[in-house]
Amino acid sequence: MTNEILSTMVDTSDEWIKTRTGISSRRVAKNCSTSEMAVNAAGNALENAGIQAEDIDLIIVATSTPDNNMPNTASVVQSQLGACNAVCFDESAACAGFIIALSIAKAYIEAGMMKNVLVIGSDKISRIVDWADRSTCVLFGDGAGACILSAYEGNSGILGADLHNDGSKGEVLKGGSIDNRDERYIDMNGQEVFRFAVRNVPETINSLLNKEGTNKDEVKYYVLHQANIRIIESVAKRMDEDMEKFPNNLKDYGNTSAASIPILLDELNRNNKLQPDDLLVLAGFGAGLSWGSLLVRW
Ligand code: COA
Repeated sequence: MTNEILSTMVDTSDEWIKTRTGISSRRVAKNCSTSEMAVNAAGNALENAGIQAEDIDLIIVATSTPDNNMPNTASVVQSQLGACNAVCFDESAACAGFIIALSIAKAYIEAGMMKNVLVIGSDKISRIVDWADRSTCVLFGDGAGACILSAYEGNSGILGADLHNDGSKGEVLKGGSIDNRDERYIDMNGQEVFRFAVRNVPETINSLLNKEGTNKDEVKYYVLHQANIRIIESVAKRMDEDMEKFPNNLKDYGNTSAASIPILLDELNRNNKLQPDDLLVLAGFGAGLSWGSLLVRW
């Protein structure tokens, strides 16, 4: 759905949306559910990794928009893929969901409990968007991305994590109420979320790099949750880093919540932008409020 189409639905313009957010279009999954998008992404990840579905021990789906409360989305994915040996659960941390799911996968693998973990971020956020509210409907899009983490003797993978949550600020960004129809749509204080992101994202990245004894010059890319190009630019500026190190694709997809980081990672990977040993920082932030970062050696 392009900005032009949105301009026929609410009082907005391509120019306003582009200058305030960097978004030109977003995908709306009219005939496709969160679990169907998750299955598609997971199938591609399995193929890319050369792993059989039966070898997956655990499936985690990061989502705030599951098809149903029961069974969870991960169980639907299991059934569609034939991943009959997997334990399955969903994890809900909104736009920070994918990095938190990755940290869970890392912990299970390091504890020796799981060998191959399928981590998916999938959100059909269009379902909880009020398409008459111009302040939010221009921002979001639907999507899914997936990756597989495997036990491995070596020095690549997820090296460290820095994760945070502040539930006392939950009112700033909420939506999707099941019991209260008046609260079914996303309700957001945009400026407050903006300030939260530009303050906390550089802070978590700096704290992660300090903890891991890594200099920012060693980082090839900062793969940030794709919410708004101005947030990404402000983070780059505050960190005194070049925008070249902040790949972005939100122009085409908008904010796809838990899916934004894996979609961007997949594009970087398929475009041969990632080489073995590259150091990446992944950073997510969103409703909760929750935020955090991971240091990854590709
Ligand atoms: N088209 C045209 N005008 C719009 C508009 C739209 N889509 N949305 C809001 N406006 C108007 C407002 O009504 C306001 O009008 P007014 O001055 O007459 O009252 C004006 O634009 C400015 O609104 P404001 O909210 O101050 O704009 P902003 O510069 O803060 O940009 C956001 C709004 C939402 C783009 C910005 O705050 C943002 O990106 N915040 C972060 C949101 C986010 O990323 N959330 C998800 C995090 S995971």
